[in-house]
Amino acid sequence: MLSKEIEKALNSQITIEAESSQVYLAMASWAETQGFEGVAAFMYAHSDEERMHMLKLVKFVNERGGHAKIATLKAPPISFGSFKEMFQTLFDHEVMVSASINELVHISLQERDYATHNFLQWYVAEQIEEEALARTILDKINLIGDDKGGLYLFDNDVKLLTVTSSVDPNA
Ligand code: FEO
Repeated sequence: MLSKEIEKALNSQITIEAESSQVYLAMASWAETQGFEGVAAFMYAHSDEERMHMLKLVKFVNERGGHAKIATLKAPPISFGSFKEMFQTLFDHEVMVSASINELVHISLQERDYATHNFLQWYVAEQIEEEALARTILDKINLIGDDKGGLYLFDNDVKLLTVTSSVDPNA
């Protein structure tokens, strides 16, 4: 059984993951309108991945006798200025998500909820991967700057960089 405190914290994380999915969907749509199909495909996949992160939490909360509450989401930005700006936003967003997961881990220990603590280790591993990937992309885009040819090649390259979970989400 989940304590009220941990149920509330897990529900907040559900909202964060759902909002992440929306932010990356908005990025995908914006990139598509700019003609960058590789970046758009990467962002659509990332958006799906975040929805999976959310669903995994929803199922866990309900399985443990809590109630996963599906909340209103903040509207994501519509446009992102430049690819550099967009990938910086993505990186900053993932750093924020990692901090939130760390806080959840802290609460699970305070509450002596070792089942939730164990469950959260998947997210801890996932955040290491997501932050590393976001940093790699940001480094590349910072090298390219606004060079059109470089951005064209980057759009092709990014198709090969897929967001994949470090651990089977159904495990
Ligand atoms: Fe689910 Fe990218 O954090």
